[in-house]
Amino acid sequence: MSRPKDWELVCIGCGTAAETELPDSTCRRCGDLLEIRVNKEIDRGSFFDGEGPGIWRFKRALPFPPDVEPVSLEEGGTPLVRTDRFATRLGLHNLYAKNDGQNPTGSFKDRGMSVAVTRAKTLGAKALICASTGNTAASLAAYAARAGIDAVVVVPRAGVASGKLGQAFAYGARVFGVEGNFDQALATVFDLVRKDGRFYLMNSVNPFRIEGQKITAYEIFEQLARVPDYVVLPVGNAGNISAIWKGFKELRKWRIVDSLPKMIGVQAEGASPLAAVISSGEPFRPVKEPRTVASAIRIGNPVSWKKALSAIAESGGRAAVVSDEEIMEAKRRLSQEEGLLVEAASAAPFAALIKLNLPREAAVVCIATGNGLKDLSDHGGDHEIESAVDSDSIASSIGSLP
Ligand code: F0G
Repeated sequence: MSRPKDWELVCIGCGTAAETELPDSTCRRCGDLLEIRVNKEIDRGSFFDGEGPGIWRFKRALPFPPDVEPVSLEEGGTPLVRTDRFATRLGLHNLYAKNDGQNPTGSFKDRGMSVAVTRAKTLGAKALICASTGNTAASLAAYAARAGIDAVVVVPRAGVASGKLGQAFAYGARVFGVEGNFDQALATVFDLVRKDGRFYLMNSVNPFRIEGQKITAYEIFEQLARVPDYVVLPVGNAGNISAIWKGFKELRKWRIVDSLPKMIGVQAEGASPLAAVISSGEPFRPVKEPRTVASAIRIGNPVSWKKALSAIAESGGRAAVVSDEEIMEAKRRLSQEEGLLVEAASAAPFAALIKLNLPREAAVVCIATGNGLKDLSDHGGDHEIESAVDSDSIASSIGSLP
């Protein structure tokens, strides 16, 4: 009897198995997205004892042979911190932030980029390309540099945080801007990879990205020593919600856990096509001109929308929508009450908690997807440096303390 392959690429639409990924990562037969199915034997007793840099300690769960040479910056392993002051106001008792801003380039993108760049290197890719609202660009640029491969990033010409662009330039990527939003940038990149065989696509349609990002689920389970009741996260192109859900489902398949969290995807009011499907029951329709202060999730046509809807439906979760004001208020409170500086998109799940009314005792993990240092543009004009004439002037300006 022939042994099943260690892993395979399977189309999420028609179920066809693919031998290898096309440059645009889609199914040769029906054009839908491909997903990796890991068939390896997983020893649950030693699952968390693996060795390797960063996420590569879980390499048994990844689509590579044991002698793989990872392109790694020791990504993952980010802190899971309690946010008690934020939680108390909401009446929640077990609220955590998975602080993915502490990844090597400051966002959750690094786990997936490590895996996908390792794959690209194995395939001998000449140039790596992505469309991005900023974080993917920064992450790709860094990992491509580490692998010694050229990186090209395509961004909306306006509206990308300067810190993220600065990172892409600093790591040596070529940066192109489209007149338009992320959706147009991604369409341009798809067009290019289909026409020109030199480029390997690094957006989250690339199933190897998802394989890296799924490890977030393993980390959360390990850190919490249980499966959380809810995982709440911002949704843009919808890769991360699909990936984390995949990770938890694998843990259950391998009998490492026996329950699953409910997945709650949070979108900004002006960019919420997924939430619209769930609330209206109507078919998926892209938002033409997505608008939100949270530039990372300013996306109207999330490419992994089917996977995200499945994650929400299968897990019994929900979609939530938050306004820009709610996002900025949550962002302010996280930094001033918890010491957690996240970017606007990453404050969205915390903003959603205010209206979600989750059970008080529930264990809730919000994914703080990106570091606030990347985007300091939205702190408003009320932060002027006060004049210090001498020590007495500071003391009298401060006045009495509580
Ligand atoms: N949070 C942050 C900070 C992001 O940068 C992104 C996506 C998301 C959440 C949403 O994740 O796309 O997997 O649903 N940023 C992408 C980029 C689009 O280009 O950096 P998603």
